[in-house]
Amino acid sequence: MYTSRIAGIGHYVPENVVTNKDLEEFMDTTEEWIVERTGVNERRWIDPATDDMPSTMGTTAAQMAMKNAGITADDIDFIVFATLSPDYYFPGPGVMVQEQLGIKEIGALDVRNQCSGFVYSLSVADQFVKTGMYENILVIGAENHSGGLDKTTRGRNVSVIFGDGAGAVVVQRSKEEGKGILSTHLHSEGKHAKELALLGPNTAHWVDKMIAENDPKDESYYPYMNGSFVFKHAIVRFGEVISEALQANGYQSTDIDMFIPHQANLRISQFVQKKMGLSDDQVYNNIMRYGNTTAASIPIAMSEAHQEGKIKEGDLVCLAAFGSGFTWASALIRW
Ligand code: UT7
Repeated sequence: MYTSRIAGIGHYVPENVVTNKDLEEFMDTTEEWIVERTGVNERRWIDPATDDMPSTMGTTAAQMAMKNAGITADDIDFIVFATLSPDYYFPGPGVMVQEQLGIKEIGALDVRNQCSGFVYSLSVADQFVKTGMYENILVIGAENHSGGLDKTTRGRNVSVIFGDGAGAVVVQRSKEEGKGILSTHLHSEGKHAKELALLGPNTAHWVDKMIAENDPKDESYYPYMNGSFVFKHAIVRFGEVISEALQANGYQSTDIDMFIPHQANLRISQFVQKKMGLSDDQVYNNIMRYGNTTAASIPIAMSEAHQEGKIKEGDLVCLAAFGSGFTWASALIRW
């Protein structure tokens, strides 16, 4: 009987820092509004003059994760890549990471679960490791939001929140009972699919809409978000899915040593923290520096928390996410 553990973590963010003051130049917004409503002070947006893309950023994060795990690319036997902003419509970035790392013909899977994408991917890797099929799996979350945001006043409720970056972990086979990934919990509710979505480039219209019409006023090319509706669902689903993970393992919220929520909005994280009765040092947030990086947010936060010594051997770590789909998910890990 195998168990699975996170053996290494890494992250990468583009160098280009975009402050709230910078955004005031493109759209009708204020530094105060953004900080008060979202908690974001600055985010990283890819400089188009660089080669940064979800696959290349994911590869860099993966290299750090492998180094941290003390293994090389030759040890990897499967890749799971989560993103809502792939380099290309197809193929997905998983195969590009396989090529960029020079790994020989292993499987590469792309996961499309937006903000929950990393936890879904972790769950996939966990199952493959626990069944004994694979020994070392790279799980990557990476996003290039800045390339597709409406940076005018029309898109301000969405574009001020999101940032670019990548995070990665190595999920590794282990035999230590009671340690590693204890359980994962996945959910969806497709009836709200259009409340947070990018509907423009789609298979029904992609030739006529994207090429023939090419109408710059068409809002469907930009992400749409019914912000307050998403917010209300997020705070409920976060609570539910965390309780589900705790109950499944016989724990209470006070047993958690480190809670790493998907960095959707600082107000959401703070609401959930309060509801769970956690102190500030039991929760890790970095949305202030990076904004919401969707599938990358949890592994970036986990990587930073680990680097800062805030996740230690034996700690009970809880991950939870909610986002477009709607999808939501949690994972409980004994480090
Ligand atoms: O990660 C995936 C899941 N995503 C989330 O969980 C995000 C959930 N939602 C949110 O984080 C929040 O709903 C937002 C941050 C998106 C918006 O905050 P809000 O407090 O819900 O604001 P709102 O959309 O209700 O807008 C309030 C006002 C509106 O003006 P009026 O109609 O009251 O005059 C907006 O037009 O704020 C205005 N507004 C802005 N003003 C300045 C919206 N965006 C901006 C902006 N700057 N960037």
